[in-house]
Amino acid sequence: MAKIISIFNHKGGVAKTTTAINLGAALTTKNKKVLLVDMDAQANTTVGVGIDEEKLEVTIYDLLISKEFKKERILEVMKETSYKNLYILPSDITLSNAEITLSSALSRENILNRILKQIKNDFDYIIIDCPPSLGLLSVNSLVASDSLIIPVSTSYFSIKGIKHLIETYNLVKENLKEDLDIMGVLITMYDARKNISKDIKDSLKSVFKDKVFNTLIRINSQIEYAQDRQTPIIYFNKNCNGYTDYMNLADEVINYE
Ligand SMILES: Nc1ncnc2c1ncn2[C@@H]1O[C@H](COP(=O)(O)OP(=O)(O)O)[C@@H](O)[C@H]1O
Ligand SMILES: [Mg+2]
Repeated sequence: MAKIISIFNHKGGVAKTTTAINLGAALTTKNKKVLLVDMDAQANTTVGVGIDEEKLEVTIYDLLISKEFKKERILEVMKETSYKNLYILPSDITLSNAEITLSSALSRENILNRILKQIKNDFDYIIIDCPPSLGLLSVNSLVASDSLIIPVSTSYFSIKGIKHLIETYNLVKENLKEDLDIMGVLITMYDARKNISKDIKDSLKSVFKDKVFNTLIRINSQIEYAQDRQTPIIYFNKNCNGYTDYMNLADEVINYE
């Protein structure tokens, strides 16, 4: 049965999408079957693994609003990528309607959870790319998850933002998902030459202690080039820090208990 992990931070530009794609792809090279779930209307994860969002007839949005949880229907929405063992439940811009459409739905926080339950047995890992907000789509992602990875960029950082994020986590844990676990805070875009990167790393370690991944995701322009080519870094360039860092993260995730 798959372990379901949300890449969660309502701040944009902290490497959620980059982490979803590259952790997912790294896990596939370690013999794991992976499903990515794109919960962001910007569809960067969908496009980032080479799917043409404009050609999609159905997306995760249709599953969320139809409230029909038949496996055949879910498999119709799921796409196989051109990378071995990497699958995706894609999104497109229609997902931006979901917050409003779903707000009056019965057990509206539990819809993604019910969808993923149907296919949980088919994968080793399901990785959810959360949207940049703390609304219903993020709450659905959290309720569906076993664990969270919280990427925090060391180029800009807000203690206040982290506080909001932890409040949402606590609310979901207390009211909707008792055993939701924080796997770790992931330091991203780390630049060893910059004092600010070191300062942020130190303050995160003093707050989150052993809940900070040992792997630091270093700033690496190859990651941006790979994204531009709609290719996971794992398949784009094996001789760069981005490759090494995401492969190490995948090992930490596999060894996490
Ligand atoms: N380690 C890194 N080094 C350099 N650029 C990065 C790195 N991680 C992410 N980026 C770039 O930063 C931008 C924001 O990342 P993204 O994953 O889209 O963030 P989010 O999904 O949290 O909004 C993207 O252009 C991405 O290519
Ligand atoms: Mg994103």
